[in-house]
Amino acid sequence: MMPRDTNAFGTIFGGVILSEIDLAAAVEAVKTHSGRTVTVAMDEVVFRAPVYVGDLVSFHTETLHIGKTSVRVKVSVWAERRFADGDQVQVTEAEVTMVAVDDEGKKTAIQHG
Ligand SMILES: CC(C)(COP(=O)(O)OP(=O)(O)OC[C@H]1O[C@@H](n2cnc3c(N)ncnc32)[C@H](O)[C@@H]1OP(=O)(O)O)[C@@H](O)C(=O)NCCC(=O)NCCS
Repeated sequence: MMPRDTNAFGTIFGGVILSEIDLAAAVEAVKTHSGRTVTVAMDEVVFRAPVYVGDLVSFHTETLHIGKTSVRVKVSVWAERRFADGDQVQVTEAEVTMVAVDDEGKKTAIQHG
């Protein structure tokens, strides 16, 4: 993480992490539905530990549920304290629901594969 992403207290702004969680969930959803998806909900977001400048941050995803038009994805965020002790710490987790939409932005059935 870079200094441009910090809040007023010098740690990484939560909105930056949320934005990356959103992207990670979209990438995971493509495994289920190759078309366009939009985020309908982000639930169970927990910031367990701060992220610091210089941390190497990884986003691990898992599909929890595939519905008629939606895919629910768990995103687990880990930070490697590269400029401190090198520890790997789980910093954030969230569950994101992505909905398949057509060209007009209306929900559509999940197309597997
Ligand atoms: C996503 C969107 C197309 C859904 O349209 P809708 O007609 O309201 O859809 P529904 O309420 O019937 O829900 C569609 C699916 O989403 C799920 N869903 C809806 N609201 C949800 C919520 N709050 N949490 C979890 N899942 C939800 C429903 O269970 C359903 O899943 P299923 O078909 O797999 O059973 C519409 O709400 C939308 O365009 N939202 C804005 C999306 C967006 O712009 N995201 C970026 C934010 S900047």
